[in-house]
Order: sequence, then structure tokens, then C-alpha cells
Amino acid sequence: MDALSDTEALLAALELQIAWGAEDALEEDPQDRTRPREAAPIVAVPPPAQPAARAPAAPPRPIATPALTGLGAFTPAQAAAQGLAEGADSLDALRAAMAALDTPLRDTAGKLVFSDGVAGSGLMLIGEAPGADEDRLGRPFVGVSGQLLDRMLASIGVRREENAYLTNILPWRPPGNRTPTDAEINLFTPFAVRHVALVRPRLVVFLGGTAAKAMLRTRDGITRIRGRWHRLEVPGLGTVPALPTLHPAYLLRSPAQKREAWADLRLLRRTLDGLVDPLAKAAVSDRPLSSN
Ligand code: URA
Repeated sequence: MDALSDTEALLAALELQIAWGAEDALEEDPQDRTRPREAAPIVAVPPPAQPAARAPAAPPRPIATPALTGLGAFTPAQAAAQGLAEGADSLDALRAAMAALDTPLRDTAGKLVFSDGVAGSGLMLIGEAPGADEDRLGRPFVGVSGQLLDRMLASIGVRREENAYLTNILPWRPPGNRTPTDAEINLFTPFAVRHVALVRPRLVVFLGGTAAKAMLRTRDGITRIRGRWHRLEVPGLGTVPALPTLHPAYLLRSPAQKREAWADLRLLRRTLDGLVDPLAKAAVSDRPLSSN
């Protein structure tokens, strides 16, 4: 891994290793983490050039979101959701559209969980669905797995208050924290795609298989697709590099997977530092689901 110049990040990396009960060396080579790092600033993709001042204002252009036909039938409800998502021309409008969507999830959940962090940071992380703590507070990743996520991010110098933006595929907590159904995921994925288009991140990280599979439109499991950059095709924005990694809740249940998670964090850090070109060998994500 490249060196971390920032003392806080260095301590956070050490704390994470201690919390994870580091006993083995996870890297082949020794690393000098005290060597100053030349971090390349990462910011959101600049918005497209504005029309000339006196040009008549063009109405917001609808943006076609790919239909997720591979994850279950494309129902009228999903078509309605897609229309609502495509019509949102700001984050506030997107949030309002998600709140307006008629779904049984809305009746059982508490607060709508939209996002947290810095929208213009250039780094967007997408999880699955709110849990009990998120549902109560209306913010993503504030429970136990969120605390682990914060520690993992801090270990590579990333903090939601400064340089990351967090959201989920589902804005509502599924009752009893059950796994979201394919229909629920299909219903809300167009909103997540539109969310990326509005935030214009330079890099996206998928936390867990649900987000990765829905957004990359693949049936491949997370262990197969994690750890390398994929091309996320976002209508209205273009190709965004996207890194699937293990969900922190899974890491809490399966501590043996921390080695993989640490490798993914290092890849993210190296990419943030401009040491890796994420699209150089990125896997193409938009192959037909039926071939799997
Ligand atoms: N798990 C998620 O995927 N998202 C959250 O916000 C919390 C837990």
C-alpha cells in the first residue's frame, strides 16, 4: 500500500488492524507508511457546461435508466418508479420522489434514509438497506456495521464528514431487517442510478452483493466480482469506475474475510492517489443477465 502521510489515518489503520486482531501479515511486502503520500484530490465530475446566459431554459431532459429485467419481471410499479427517478433533477427532488413512491415498505419503516456525507466529494458508497438504527435516525450506516465501515474508511484516510458520500439501494428499512426482495431492489435501483447521475462521483464503491448486483446488473456473487474495478454505465453521466467489496455486516459475521476487505481498501486508496487507473482493465458490467 502507498504511505499514509496523515497521522490520523495512520493511527486509524493501526487501530483497525488491532480491532481485527491482526496476527498475520496480510501483505507480501513490508510497507513504509511514514513516507509522505502525494494524494491526488478527488472531486465530483464537473457538471456539464451551462447553456449561454440568454438561451431559453431547456426543460430537464428525461434520462433513460436501464430496465432491470434480469432481476425479476419489469412490473408497472417499477415502470412508475423509473419515471419518478428519471424526472428528478436535483438531490432534493430525488429524495421527494423516493418518499412519494407508494410501497408497502414505507408503511412499516420509520424514517426515510437518503444519504450522508459530502455529495461533491467524488467518492460515493452504496449499501443495501437501512437497519434499525438507520431507520430511527434517518441516516445510512450509523449502526454497528456503519461504525465498522467508518473505521475501515478512516484506515485509508476517508471520512464521511470530509471526503465520502453514502447511500443505499433501498431508502426504507425492510421489516425485521429481512433481506430485500428482487422486486424491492428493482423498484429502487432506478433511484440509485439517478442518485449517481446527480452526485457525479468519480468513483463508486458497492458495499455488498445486493448493491453490486443490482447496479452492475449481474447475477455473479460478491466474492466473484469484488476486488476489481467495473464499469458502471450511468445514463446522463457516462462510465463511472465501480468497486464491489464485502459488506461490513458480512465482515462482522465472517471475520476470516477481512484479508479481502483490506485488499479492497488498499485498491481504493491507491486509486484515490492516482496510482491505479480504474478503467484500464475494468470489467465490463453490462452484459446480458441471461448469459449467467
Ligand atoms: N446496512 C446497509 O446496507 N446500509 C445501512 O445503512 C446500514 C446497514
